[in-house]
Amino acid sequence: MAEKTLQDLFLDTLKDIYYAERQIVKALPKMARATQSADLKAAFQKHKEETEGQIERLQQVFELLGKPARGKTCDAIVGILAEGEEIMEEYKGSEAFDAGLISSAQPVEHYEITRYGTLKAWAGRLGLNEAAQLLDATLQEESATDEALTDLPKLPPTAKALRERPKLLEIADRRRHQFCLSAMDVR
Ligand SMILES: [Fe+2]
Ligand SMILES: [Fe+2]
Repeated sequence: MAEKTLQDLFLDTLKDIYYAERQIVKALPKMARATQSADLKAAFQKHKEETEGQIERLQQVFELLGKPARGKTCDAIVGILAEGEEIMEEYKGSEAFDAGLISSAQPVEHYEITRYGTLKAWAGRLGLNEAAQLLDATLQEESATDEALTDLPKLPPTAKALRERPKLLEIADRRRHQFCLSAMDVR
């Protein structure tokens, strides 16, 4: 078998995110329809339009590589979206529904952020500057969406907890640290 290169990995990862985006563009209208919150609905609709543009950008990157735009099943996004659907089903009509929607949408953005961040860095390494710019434009949109979801002005009380994420992480970190210390004491 011929040795794999960074270029091969770049192309494979591009196919992964291309598949993911085409699943996401189908999921976003469902999420927009599901919420009663006008702000959340607007955020999902806006991001659906952005996602259409992101798919076009990916097609441009494939073109720059001289390769056909093709997706490759991304199990991660399949799983993340399936969990979201499960939450929508289980929390339908409850006060926690929008909080569940937001907490299902954010892992999608986080997955995209990690993929686009990596692809942009690899494009730079491979000297594909135009591709790097296209990937960066999408990366900025994904980060802005993640922040917008965290900062929605009229969140239900349960969703407001998401704003406390950094604080919660800090607390979890401290607890883990204390746990390690007490574990050492036991020994
Ligand atoms: Fe996207
Ligand atoms: Fe996104």
